[in-house]
Amino acid sequence: MNKLLIRGGAPLAGEIRISGAKNSALPILAATLLTEQPVILSSVPHLHDITTMLELLGCLGVGVVLDEKMRLEVDASKIDSLVAPYDLVKTMRASILVLGPLLTRFGEAHVSFPGGCAIGSRPVDLHLRGLEAMGATIDIDGGYIRARAPSGGLKGSHILLDMVTVGGTENLMMAAVLARGTTVIENAAREPEIVDLANFINTLGGDVEGAGTDTLTIRGVAGLRGGSYRVMSDRIETGTYLAAAAATRGRVLLKDTDPHTLESVLLKLEKAGAHLSSGKDWISLDMRGNRPRAVNLRTAPYPAFPTDMQAQLTAMNAVAEGTGRVTETIFENRLIQTHELNRMGANIALEGNTAIITGVERLKGAPVMASDLRASASLVIAGLVAEGETLVDRIYHIDRGYECIEEKLQQLGADIRRIV
Ligand code: UD1
Repeated sequence: MNKLLIRGGAPLAGEIRISGAKNSALPILAATLLTEQPVILSSVPHLHDITTMLELLGCLGVGVVLDEKMRLEVDASKIDSLVAPYDLVKTMRASILVLGPLLTRFGEAHVSFPGGCAIGSRPVDLHLRGLEAMGATIDIDGGYIRARAPSGGLKGSHILLDMVTVGGTENLMMAAVLARGTTVIENAAREPEIVDLANFINTLGGDVEGAGTDTLTIRGVAGLRGGSYRVMSDRIETGTYLAAAAATRGRVLLKDTDPHTLESVLLKLEKAGAHLSSGKDWISLDMRGNRPRAVNLRTAPYPAFPTDMQAQLTAMNAVAEGTGRVTETIFENRLIQTHELNRMGANIALEGNTAIITGVERLKGAPVMASDLRASASLVIAGLVAEGETLVDRIYHIDRGYECIEEKLQQLGADIRRIV
């Protein structure tokens, strides 16, 4: 099994390019099921989760070709299966995103019920209740969600989500695109990835209004055409490299990214003592050699601090001056990596869903184990600031969400390599 070997101690310095956003590319790939015309996507990151989604599309009969410019050409004109099988869904929960598009275009879909995962139970009840409000019949049978649209297709409806859900908003938005009439989704997620998905759908002739606010209005259309689209940059990858640079007292320039998508993270980094500058598509961070100061934070839906950046800032706090309180409100079990950080000499106490982190001057390298995607990023950050060697095991988690992580960190001067 692949591992990452890190010799820590050096500040990160240099510049890198940020990849396309995983969490945007996944729903956009699912949305290609909405049209029978070909779609060309650029800036799709080369990641494990993306490969899984492409495999799932392939299984449904969708044609996918990578062209010479590394763009994906997706052709969902013919589908030969409406089943998202257990073997694929169990490896990636985002597979549930094919449910809405399949159901609205073909009137039927069978998607394996996603199970729990390392960061909590993560139900999909709101996806299902929303589809039922649009007239779908849902049965759970043999571990599968069996969904059927009424004759004539799904119908526009008024849906109030009683919790903010990113995937739920995406699934219902996609289902509403080809429904009869208008759907209004209230208490919708406002994440930039929702805006990207809506822009993609509108590029193909859909009619989604209000993306980025908490009310989405989707007027159903008879069909979508083909088109080309570039996936937005990955705000979580951006934030991860900024946190790594802050923790190591470094100086980095990140290109091909959008500073507006991570204001809450930039605010915390500034509080930690980082000197930040940014332009339309770049951000630079300079610690001027100083140790970061501890920051308090609480995760919440966008535009508040993202749960996907919590573990990385917890790692930064572990070596910061002072004490920081980090509260996780979105997922259970998402402070699990703090135990591994303590094995590296961090001083972190847990009180319910809050971690109280008293910064230490240096961490000590150790063999550690990644438990989920963002937790593994925090262990890499810890390895970069630790004295001696850190061996991060189970890095398949990291390959699900970070494109070329060791090459990018090497470009920033880190001593890191993959051991196979
Ligand atoms: C997406 C992101 C993930 C991020 C998360 C929160 C993708 C592929 N993944 O995950 O990286 O951490 O948003 O920003 O984009 N919930 C319910 N019922 C539902 C749906 C959700 O109770 O039907 C709960 C979840 O258990 C969780 C909360 O709502 O506590 C938020 O989950 P959600 O926003 O749906 O996360 P994902 O879309 O799975």
